[in-house]
Amino acid sequence: MAAREIVPGVRSVGVIDWDRRIFDELIPLPDGTSYNSYLIRGSEKTALIDTVDPVKTAELMANLDRAGAETIDYIVANHAEQDHSGSIPAMLARFPEAKVVTNQKCRDFLVDLLHIPVDRTIVVGDKETLPLGGKTLEFILAPWVHWPETMLTYLQEDRILFSCDFFGSHYATSSLYVPNEGVIYESAKRYYAEIMMPFRSSIKGHLAKLAARDIAMIAPSHGPIHKRPAFIMDAYRDWTDDAVKNMVVLPYVSMHGSTQAMVDHLVDALMQRGVPVQPFNLPKTDIGDLAEALVDAATVVIGAPTVIFGPHPQAVYAAYLANLLRPKTRYATVIGSYGWGGKTVDTVKNMLDRLKVELLEPVYIKGYPKEADFAALDRLADAIKKKHEEAGIIVS
Ligand code: FEO
Repeated sequence: MAAREIVPGVRSVGVIDWDRRIFDELIPLPDGTSYNSYLIRGSEKTALIDTVDPVKTAELMANLDRAGAETIDYIVANHAEQDHSGSIPAMLARFPEAKVVTNQKCRDFLVDLLHIPVDRTIVVGDKETLPLGGKTLEFILAPWVHWPETMLTYLQEDRILFSCDFFGSHYATSSLYVPNEGVIYESAKRYYAEIMMPFRSSIKGHLAKLAARDIAMIAPSHGPIHKRPAFIMDAYRDWTDDAVKNMVVLPYVSMHGSTQAMVDHLVDALMQRGVPVQPFNLPKTDIGDLAEALVDAATVVIGAPTVIFGPHPQAVYAAYLANLLRPKTRYATVIGSYGWGGKTVDTVKNMLDRLKVELLEPVYIKGYPKEADFAALDRLADAIKKKHEEAGIIVS
């Protein structure tokens, strides 16, 4: 990855990871990612904003060579997660004059996670500034985006916001800037769903504070730079808003076809009633796609057959993930089939305890669905449509 100029004195020196396919051993990355790092040269001092994943340290070093970075005075750590902080120890070794500039909480994390020596750090507070000579960095504390220590850095003269994970996307591209807003919208929404959604209310507050700032560009630490900040800020406003969309998300698994028949019937019944639905056959589903669908769907229906005495583990995974990600979903229920007993419905319901949802009447049956069971699914489709109408989210 080339070291590329953004504006005079500001270069992108990060690394593209074209081949990475999973993050945190949890999140699929169908489009790879990048770890963005930015070199800012003032007339007196030089700062590096964030580093890269430790596996890419050599490439960061090569980019700094290309950029002619003989000295670095400050390494700004916006976030302690290792995909951005992991090369800091190597950078401190290479640049013995450098100090890590970060907030108190992030410093504590860096000491714990990377054993950064405290005497190589400088602690800054909210709105504190760091002059480099004609370039002034301002630090904006942004806790819970998505860790408790995250901060943003604003370059005052050039009006560039270095937003770390905020507004980012796992999208490997040779374009320094957003190449296509439609493509990046999907990638950024998926990223929001996987990383940011559990902290929706904090993020709303940070968005409101940033609205008052004059921002020419947003340079996140994953994915391309936004030259049109309104695009991504408006998208975040929409995703974090309380409004939900006329959509049913239906993650399910079926062992011998009974739950599948119920899912097929419910999908059809919802479509006939003008309620859009997205089924996700869990053994074949990309979990990131499911997370993205959860961002604004009004209703979640989990399709779970009973294995021995409880829900199929794939359905448990989906319910656990939904509960962890805390989407703004308003209604939820369970459908499925059992052979001889079990407590699947109660177990799945109890797993959704962090969601502020109204639980609709489940349809849970013995064996393969019969006429009366299909009729119960029709009633469920009616109930969902009615709820969506009452919530004012069906536009006819
Ligand atoms: Fe990209 Fe929270 O690290």
